[in-house]
Amino acid sequence: MNPTKPKILCVDDEPANLKLLEAMLEPRGYEVVKAEDGIEALEKIKEHNIALALLDVMLPKVNGFEVCRMIKGDEMYRHIPVVFVTGLTAQEDRIKGIAAGAEDFVSKPFDQGEILARIDMLLKVRDLNNRLNSAYNTITNLITFGKNIAMTFDPLDFDFLSRIDSSIARFIKNSPDMIDKPQIVVVGIASASSPLLVRGGAAGGWQWYRYESDSGELRRTPIDSGIYKYLELPPDGSSKTAFYNEADLRGSGLGLFTDKLETMSVKASNMVCFVSGAFCVFAVNYARAVSMFDAEVLNSIVMQDLYLKSLASQVKETEDAFDYLVFALARAAEANDEDTGNHIMRVGEYCALIARQLGMPEKFSDIFRIQATLHDVGKIHVSPLVLKKPGKLTPEEFEQMKRHPVYGAMILGDHVRLKLAKSIALTHHERWDGSGYPYGLKGEQIPIEGRILNIADQYDALRNPRPYKPALDHPTTYKIIAEGDGRTLPGHFDPAVLKAFKETVSQFEDIYERLKG
Ligand code: C2E
Ligand code: SIN
Ligand code: SIN
Ligand code: FE
Repeated sequence: MNPTKPKILCVDDEPANLKLLEAMLEPRGYEVVKAEDGIEALEKIKEHNIALALLDVMLPKVNGFEVCRMIKGDEMYRHIPVVFVTGLTAQEDRIKGIAAGAEDFVSKPFDQGEILARIDMLLKVRDLNNRLNSAYNTITNLITFGKNIAMTFDPLDFDFLSRIDSSIARFIKNSPDMIDKPQIVVVGIASASSPLLVRGGAAGGWQWYRYESDSGELRRTPIDSGIYKYLELPPDGSSKTAFYNEADLRGSGLGLFTDKLETMSVKASNMVCFVSGAFCVFAVNYARAVSMFDAEVLNSIVMQDLYLKSLASQVKETEDAFDYLVFALARAAEANDEDTGNHIMRVGEYCALIARQLGMPEKFSDIFRIQATLHDVGKIHVSPLVLKKPGKLTPEEFEQMKRHPVYGAMILGDHVRLKLAKSIALTHHERWDGSGYPYGLKGEQIPIEGRILNIADQYDALRNPRPYKPALDHPTTYKIIAEGDGRTLPGHFDPAVLKAFKETVSQFEDIYERLKG
């Protein structure tokens, strides 16, 4: 039996009339549901998914007008068209019928052609109305979804496949009554960044997946990536959105592709697709004919995702360029330091480590890792003779050296993106007990980033040879920081930062070993 056969509720107290209607309607592909009084009619409406009701006016128990009023007064059923089949031609009854909400009237004795024409027309209207409602819902959902994306989009934490997953989850049919959605979606993503590479390249250039709903849960299964060979991809940079109903599919140029899909038990009957050299989506098996509207809905979802992808990659590129310039500047400032090697990179790693240990957000420690590399940028303004002096500095030389934090802050300026770097440069030689420079700040007057950098810098300075001192090993360095050596004292450090240092000290050694050289 065809599950989509429309059910017509026929209500009449004359069984003979019901028989007549049945004989008329069943050969036309309708299923007839019969009721002999008003109460039974209302019960049948609840039991069956009724497409249309043919109501007699004079009914036992509850009359036809009343039944109609009840149908039209119920949110669940008011969309069901009601047609009065009546011998009464009085104007008054027509008015009553219209007041009760009836869509139409046909007169007894039945004229077969008239009844069938009315039913056909009303069901068409109902169908268009349903589609309009579902189109309205689709548009409302797209707008809501767009708003949600705008609120949650993080270009630096963007994963295209997850983005696709979440779009398909909304787009695909996940309950039997959703006739406005596809049953299966097949997606192809070219993994090479350039479509040119893909075209000339191997099947490995594409990843293909099939999506379907598995009792409400979205399931994504990889499928044979070679399937792209069966597609005629549009020229570079262009894309195509189209819809095909079963009959159009053969002559569409997609025949080979859909044949191949069929071998993967995806039968493309009603299909909407987006095809480009870098990304393809095929939404198949809608429970009804598809139209330009469905193609536009798919297109708008795909465009949203591609736009986010492009935005994310542009932001990422800008971010990488920014980091690159930060490192370039930090390295330039080291030019006159004797033997710094990866000093600045290691200091960045130690800082991120302590920040995490102190429970600071991951994002902050990532920014910290990068910007910490600029802490000594002010040494650019310190004489190379001082920086490379093999022995102890004179007080005058040390005074010059003590200006490097302020120089650093001046170089970094007031850009909002370099706020942390500036604060670090300015405060990394301050000490918890107030004995540091340039300002002699004490305790929490020193920003936390300065307190963290201070300990990280000392660990690394001690581990390395300087023109004025030899390299020290890990245990000796640990001892100097934890217990002091007269020049360095435990009171120089924020106790919380010193504690975090002690807790993670083995990782300091790992970082030093990994990045030395
Ligand atoms: P730097 O060599 O990168 O050292 C950074 C910080 O690590 C120093 O900050 C200091 O707190 C610590 N540190 C470095 N070496 C030792 C050490 O042998 N023992 C102890 N206990 N701590 C050490 P500070 O003192 O503010 O120095 C800032 C910068 O001034 C140093 O950077 C270095 O470039 C220069 N400097 C400091 N003292 C001397 C020195 O006696 N001779 C020369 N030539 N340069 C010095
Ligand atoms: C700043 O001005 O960036 C903070 C450094 C300080 O406390 O002097
Ligand atoms: C030094 O020993 O070179 C001076 C270190 C300090 O400022 O305490
Ligand atoms: Fe410094």
